[in-house]
Amino acid sequence: MNKPDSRFWDIFFEVYEDLPRQGPGNKACAVRALGLCRELPDYPAILDLGCGVGGQTIYLAELTPGSIVAIDNHAASIERLQGSIAELGLSQRVRAIVGDMAHPELPPASFDLIWSEGALYSIGLRNALCICHGLLRPGGYLAFTDAIWRKENPPPEVKAGFDLDYPTMGRLDDDLAAIQDEGFEIVGHFTLPDEAWLDDFYTPMENRITELRGKYASDVEASKILDQLAEEPGLHRRYSDFYAYEFFVARRPLARK
Ligand SMILES: C[S@@+](CC[C@H](N)C(=O)[O-])C[C@H]1O[C@@H](n2cnc3c(N)ncnc32)[C@H](O)[C@@H]1O
Repeated sequence: MNKPDSRFWDIFFEVYEDLPRQGPGNKACAVRALGLCRELPDYPAILDLGCGVGGQTIYLAELTPGSIVAIDNHAASIERLQGSIAELGLSQRVRAIVGDMAHPELPPASFDLIWSEGALYSIGLRNALCICHGLLRPGGYLAFTDAIWRKENPPPEVKAGFDLDYPTMGRLDDDLAAIQDEGFEIVGHFTLPDEAWLDDFYTPMENRITELRGKYASDVEASKILDQLAEEPGLHRRYSDFYAYEFFVARRPLARK
């Protein structure tokens, strides 16, 4: 698969920025992961890394009375989340800012919970784990999702897709080892169910692609890019048993390991 060009990214963002979320996940999974963070303070300080347009940021605001800082390096997503925050009257305790999670300009040991759905891998999982460890207070929790291989020898088209986006993707044991190596205790983990891919992510994506097919009916290049983007949900329906998204909940120990 060739490296995408700028026209690809224009259409990609036209599809993705409009979606309720930019990766698999849903509210039930957020509830389950948050339930594993048993010793959170009443008003936790939360950091949502790689928040996208903030689907999960808004769930978190509904599920906890804490304060939330949500960061993404894609300015258009942050603008959309800022609109949602204002619309929902959450400005007192939820702040969305453009930033690079690889270089967060945030005080060390200042968060009770770091949340990150489908984003930590972007800066290298181990690097991200190390950054999160430094930003968490001792005893603070890290809840994140990450793609993992579930079976050997995936079909070439599935492997090519992940190789482009996440070439270092490992298996469950690789992630569990990385979490422990970076000084966390593992609290629990579970696999995202199929509806978190299909109902909350791929169905809105397919609807958006259909909408844009009308707009770009006479634009051959754009239509081909839409075809290319439409392949991902199709591959998932056929081959989802080869890979998964795992929700991990880990804890920075009270005493530094
Ligand atoms: C797969 S999307 C997930 C978005 C959102 N968490 C969700 O589940 O809907 C990954 C997000 O990470 C963001 N991202 C990637 N690298 C980043 C970085 N270095 N700093 C901040 N955000 C980053 C992308 O812009 C994108 O919004």
